[in-house]
Amino acid sequence: MPAALPSIPHGGLSYRNGDPRQRLIVALDVSTAAAAQKIVAAVGDSALTYKVGMQLYTAEGPQVVRDLVASGRRVFLDLKYHDIPNTVGAAVGEAAKLGVSMLTVHSSGSGKMLRSAVEAAKTCPDLIVLAVTVLTSMDGSDLEKIGIRGTVEDSVVRLATIALANGCQGVVASAREASTLRAELGDAFAIVTPGVRPAGSKVGDQVRVVTPAEAIASGASYIVVGRPITEAADPAAEARAILGQISG
Ligand code: C5P
Repeated sequence: MPAALPSIPHGGLSYRNGDPRQRLIVALDVSTAAAAQKIVAAVGDSALTYKVGMQLYTAEGPQVVRDLVASGRRVFLDLKYHDIPNTVGAAVGEAAKLGVSMLTVHSSGSGKMLRSAVEAAKTCPDLIVLAVTVLTSMDGSDLEKIGIRGTVEDSVVRLATIALANGCQGVVASAREASTLRAELGDAFAIVTPGVRPAGSKVGDQVRVVTPAEAIASGASYIVVGRPITEAADPAAEARAILGQISG
């Protein structure tokens, strides 16, 4: 069974002393459990943690999570909860029962909602609650239309500050946001960074991409990589190449 996720240093570069697999999360953005299992089998022991998001969870439900956990994998349940505190707390309680290691909530749901999520997660000491700040699909004019003034960066820092003040153990952030968040808020929290592409791979629909090494250097604790691994001819080799890039 892999070691618990929180053993990973949140910031800095101390990953160099550890197993780089602790930092890699493979996104299972597929619509069937069979397709997910095929990827997990192909990756083998080159990754320890898998992200289950809305697509796979909506298609297959909690059993896909239970099966991953039962097989010794860690699960990052990325359902971005955002509802009244009581409902979010109850959902986090159910996620904790599934045995997930990380999950996401929207920081904009308010401090009360975040505290309810964090409280519910305490039933499972190794479960990390991560806050989503501003979706990277949104820009300044989108924020303005919903009544939020200031730059996207201001909102990211403000929402991350609220998340940490209310007990969340980390945030999801692009590499660019990660360096700002480390500069403003320090090292004592986890940053999970998607939009990562190994040098030389297809960019796909990700607009701003960084390499694994750049993401870690920007302050990411964990990187999320989907299609470069899941659509590779040899997913295990691709995962190993990424691990090499973050330990080299
Ligand atoms: O296949 P790819 O590596 O682009 O997958 C990235 C994963 O990270 C997807 O599951 C996507 O939903 C998620 N994500 C992202 N950008 C964000 C937040 C999450 O790509 N800003």
